[in-house]
Amino acid sequence: MTLQLGDTAPEFSAVTNTGAINFHEWAGSDWVILFSHPKDFTPVCTTELGYVARLKPEFDKRGVKAIGLSVDSLDSHEKWADDIRETQGYELNFPLIADQDRKVARLYGMIHPQHDELYTVRTVFVIDPRKKIRLTFTYPQTAGRNFDEVLRVIDSLQLTDSYSVSTPVNWNAGQDVIIVPSVSDADAARRFPRGWREAKSYLRLTPDPRLSSSEIDFDATG
Ligand code: BEZ
Repeated sequence: MTLQLGDTAPEFSAVTNTGAINFHEWAGSDWVILFSHPKDFTPVCTTELGYVARLKPEFDKRGVKAIGLSVDSLDSHEKWADDIRETQGYELNFPLIADQDRKVARLYGMIHPQHDELYTVRTVFVIDPRKKIRLTFTYPQTAGRNFDEVLRVIDSLQLTDSYSVSTPVNWNAGQDVIIVPSVSDADAARRFPRGWREAKSYLRLTPDPRLSSSEIDFDATG
Protein backbone atom coordinates (compact mmCIF):
# COMPACT_ATOMS: atom_id res chain seq x y z
CA MET A 1 0.00 0.00 0.00
CA THR A 2 1.38 3.42 -0.93
CA LEU A 3 1.75 5.84 1.95
CA GLN A 4 -0.13 9.05 1.26
CA LEU A 5 -0.22 12.58 2.64
CA GLY A 6 -2.15 12.63 5.91
CA ASP A 7 -1.42 8.98 6.73
CA THR A 8 0.21 8.19 10.06
CA ALA A 9 3.87 7.36 9.51
CA PRO A 10 4.16 3.65 10.37
CA GLU A 11 6.01 2.79 13.57
CA PHE A 12 9.10 0.58 13.33
CA SER A 13 12.13 -0.45 15.31
CA ALA A 14 15.54 -0.28 13.66
CA VAL A 15 19.26 -0.31 14.25
CA THR A 16 21.18 2.84 13.40
CA ASN A 17 24.76 4.03 13.70
CA THR A 18 23.66 5.97 16.81
CA GLY A 19 21.91 3.00 18.47
CA ALA A 20 18.65 1.06 18.31
CA ILE A 21 15.48 3.16 17.96
CA ASN A 22 11.72 2.92 18.02
CA PHE A 23 10.85 5.45 15.37
CA HIS A 24 7.93 7.25 17.05
CA GLU A 25 9.73 7.51 20.37
CA TRP A 26 12.89 8.75 18.65
CA ALA A 27 10.87 11.37 16.72
CA GLY A 28 9.30 12.67 19.94
CA SER A 29 7.56 15.99 19.35
CA ASP A 30 9.83 17.09 16.49
CA TRP A 31 9.32 17.19 12.75
CA VAL A 32 11.20 14.43 10.92
CA ILE A 33 12.80 14.02 7.51
CA LEU A 34 13.05 10.28 6.84
CA PHE A 35 14.93 9.61 3.63
CA SER A 36 16.34 6.59 1.85
CA HIS A 37 19.45 6.45 -0.30
CA PRO A 38 20.40 3.50 -2.51
CA LYS A 39 23.78 2.44 -1.20
CA ASP A 40 26.77 3.40 0.93
CA PHE A 41 30.05 4.26 -0.81
CA THR A 42 28.34 5.68 -3.89
CA PRO A 43 29.03 9.16 -5.21
CA VAL A 44 25.62 10.87 -5.31
CA CYS A 45 24.67 9.50 -1.87
CA THR A 46 27.96 10.75 -0.42
CA THR A 47 27.20 14.31 -1.56
CA GLU A 48 23.62 14.11 -0.29
CA LEU A 49 24.51 12.91 3.18
CA GLY A 50 27.24 15.53 3.53
CA TYR A 51 24.73 18.22 2.61
CA VAL A 52 22.11 16.95 5.07
CA ALA A 53 24.79 17.06 7.80
CA ARG A 54 25.64 20.63 6.76
CA LEU A 55 21.97 21.66 7.08
CA LYS A 56 21.75 20.62 10.76
CA PRO A 57 21.66 24.20 12.12
CA GLU A 58 18.74 24.93 9.76
CA PHE A 59 16.93 21.77 10.89
CA ASP A 60 17.52 22.69 14.54
CA LYS A 61 16.00 26.16 14.01
CA ARG A 62 12.82 24.53 12.71
CA GLY A 63 12.59 21.68 15.24
CA VAL A 64 13.41 19.04 12.60
CA LYS A 65 15.35 15.78 12.96
CA ALA A 66 16.83 13.97 9.95
CA ILE A 67 17.23 10.21 9.66
CA GLY A 68 18.60 8.34 6.64
CA LEU A 69 18.22 4.73 5.54
CA SER A 70 19.82 2.22 3.25
CA VAL A 71 19.93 -1.56 3.18
CA ASP A 72 23.64 -1.59 4.03
CA SER A 73 25.08 -2.84 7.33
CA LEU A 74 25.92 -0.84 10.43
CA ASP A 75 29.60 -1.56 9.85
CA SER A 76 29.33 -0.16 6.32
CA HIS A 77 27.55 3.01 7.57
CA GLU A 78 30.26 3.59 10.16
CA LYS A 79 33.11 3.21 7.65
CA TRP A 80 31.35 5.36 5.05
CA ALA A 81 30.94 8.17 7.62
CA ASP A 82 34.73 8.68 7.43
CA ASP A 83 34.51 9.22 3.65
CA ILE A 84 31.64 11.66 4.07
CA ARG A 85 33.67 13.70 6.58
CA GLU A 86 36.77 13.58 4.38
CA THR A 87 35.12 14.48 1.06
CA GLN A 88 32.19 16.69 2.12
CA GLY A 89 33.70 18.33 5.19
CA TYR A 90 30.82 17.44 7.51
CA GLU A 91 30.55 14.86 10.27
CA LEU A 92 27.53 12.58 9.98
CA ASN A 93 25.37 14.19 12.69
CA PHE A 94 22.10 12.26 12.28
CA PRO A 95 21.23 8.54 12.46
CA LEU A 96 21.48 6.21 9.48
CA ILE A 97 19.24 3.14 9.61
CA ALA A 98 20.92 -0.15 8.65
CA ASP A 99 17.88 -1.84 7.07
CA GLN A 100 19.55 -5.04 5.95
CA ASP A 101 16.34 -7.11 6.07
CA ARG A 102 14.52 -4.33 4.10
CA LYS A 103 11.77 -4.23 6.73
CA VAL A 104 11.52 -0.43 6.86
CA ALA A 105 12.19 -0.03 3.13
CA ARG A 106 9.19 -2.29 2.35
CA LEU A 107 6.99 -0.65 5.00
CA TYR A 108 7.59 2.78 3.44
CA GLY A 109 7.64 1.66 -0.22
CA MET A 110 11.28 2.66 -0.68
CA ILE A 111 12.08 -0.17 -3.10
CA HIS A 112 10.67 0.30 -6.60
CA PRO A 113 11.38 -3.07 -8.25
CA GLN A 114 11.02 -1.84 -11.83
CA HIS A 115 13.77 0.71 -11.09
CA ASP A 116 15.94 -1.52 -8.90
CA GLU A 117 14.91 -4.84 -7.37
CA LEU A 118 17.44 -4.77 -4.54
CA TYR A 119 18.26 -1.25 -3.49
CA THR A 120 16.16 1.67 -2.28
CA VAL A 121 15.37 4.65 -4.46
CA ARG A 122 15.70 8.22 -3.15
CA THR A 123 12.53 8.79 -1.11
CA VAL A 124 11.79 11.64 1.29
CA PHE A 125 9.06 11.66 3.93
CA VAL A 126 8.41 14.79 5.97
CA ILE A 127 6.52 13.82 9.11
CA ASP A 128 4.98 16.30 11.54
CA PRO A 129 4.94 16.13 15.36
CA ARG A 130 1.57 14.29 15.24
CA LYS A 131 3.35 11.63 13.11
CA LYS A 132 1.34 12.56 10.02
CA ILE A 133 3.04 12.36 6.61
CA ARG A 134 3.06 15.91 5.19
CA LEU A 135 5.33 15.60 2.12
CA THR A 136 6.66 12.71 0.06
CA PHE A 137 8.81 12.63 -2.99
CA THR A 138 10.81 10.05 -4.86
CA TYR A 139 13.85 10.62 -7.03
CA PRO A 140 15.66 8.12 -9.24
CA GLN A 141 18.97 6.75 -8.03
CA THR A 142 20.98 8.83 -10.48
CA ALA A 143 19.61 12.25 -9.41
CA GLY A 144 20.70 13.85 -6.16
CA ARG A 145 17.90 15.57 -4.27
CA ASN A 146 17.59 19.25 -3.44
CA PHE A 147 17.46 19.34 0.37
CA ASP A 148 17.04 23.13 0.30
CA GLU A 149 13.67 22.39 -1.30
CA VAL A 150 12.80 20.07 1.61
CA LEU A 151 13.57 22.94 4.02
CA ARG A 152 11.54 25.35 1.90
CA VAL A 153 8.46 23.10 2.07
CA ILE A 154 8.89 22.61 5.82
CA ASP A 155 8.89 26.43 6.15
CA SER A 156 5.65 26.50 4.17
CA LEU A 157 4.06 23.68 6.21
CA GLN A 158 4.99 25.25 9.52
CA LEU A 159 3.68 28.64 8.42
CA THR A 160 0.42 27.38 6.95
CA ASP A 161 -0.25 25.29 10.09
CA SER A 162 -0.37 28.53 12.09
CA TYR A 163 -2.01 31.02 9.70
CA SER A 164 -4.80 30.91 7.10
CA VAL A 165 -2.33 31.33 4.26
CA SER A 166 -0.79 29.33 1.45
CA THR A 167 2.52 29.97 -0.29
CA PRO A 168 2.92 30.85 -3.98
CA VAL A 169 5.21 29.40 -6.62
CA ASN A 170 8.90 29.33 -5.66
CA TRP A 171 8.11 31.00 -2.33
CA ASN A 172 10.81 31.31 0.28
CA ALA A 173 10.38 32.25 3.94
CA GLY A 174 9.94 36.00 4.32
CA GLN A 175 8.28 36.53 0.95
CA ASP A 176 4.63 37.48 0.52
CA VAL A 177 2.02 34.77 1.07
CA ILE A 178 -1.52 34.14 -0.17
CA ILE A 179 -4.57 34.65 2.05
CA VAL A 180 -6.65 31.50 1.53
CA PRO A 181 -9.82 32.14 -0.49
CA SER A 182 -12.09 30.81 2.30
CA VAL A 183 -11.18 33.83 4.46
CA SER A 184 -13.57 36.73 3.71
CA ASP A 185 -12.23 40.26 3.25
CA ALA A 186 -13.82 41.26 6.58
CA ASP A 187 -12.09 38.38 8.36
CA ALA A 188 -8.84 39.05 6.49
CA ALA A 189 -8.88 42.66 7.74
CA ARG A 190 -8.89 41.32 11.31
CA ARG A 191 -6.31 38.56 10.73
CA PHE A 192 -3.95 40.45 8.44
CA PRO A 193 -3.80 44.04 9.74
CA ARG A 194 -0.85 44.80 7.44
CA GLY A 195 -3.27 44.65 4.53
CA TRP A 196 -3.07 42.86 1.21
CA ARG A 197 -2.70 43.39 -2.50
CA GLU A 198 -5.59 41.97 -4.50
CA ALA A 199 -4.78 40.69 -8.01
CA LYS A 200 -8.12 38.80 -8.14
CA SER A 201 -10.68 38.24 -5.41
CA TYR A 202 -9.15 34.77 -4.92
CA LEU A 203 -5.54 35.99 -5.14
CA ARG A 204 -4.69 38.28 -2.23
CA LEU A 205 -1.05 38.70 -1.21
CA THR A 206 0.02 39.78 2.26
CA PRO A 207 3.44 39.93 3.96
CA ASP A 208 4.71 36.77 5.63
CA PRO A 209 2.89 37.06 8.99
CA ARG A 210 5.96 35.91 10.88
CA LEU A 211 7.98 38.98 9.88
CA SER A 212 8.35 41.79 12.38
CA SER A 213 7.16 45.27 11.32
CA SER A 214 10.73 46.45 10.73
CA GLU A 215 11.34 43.56 8.30
CA ILE A 216 8.35 44.38 6.09
CA ASP A 217 8.54 46.37 2.90
CA PHE A 218 5.02 45.93 1.57
CA ASP A 219 2.84 48.22 -0.50
CA ALA A 220 -0.80 47.11 -0.36
CA THR A 221 -1.55 49.26 -3.43
CA GLY A 222 1.42 48.09 -5.54
C1 BEZ B 1 25.08 7.16 -6.37
O1 BEZ B 1 24.87 7.47 -5.20
O2 BEZ B 1 25.94 7.73 -7.05
C2 BEZ B 1 24.26 6.09 -7.03
C3 BEZ B 1 23.78 5.04 -6.26
C4 BEZ B 1 23.04 4.04 -6.88
C5 BEZ B 1 22.77 4.11 -8.23
C6 BEZ B 1 23.24 5.19 -8.97
C7 BEZ B 1 23.98 6.19 -8.38
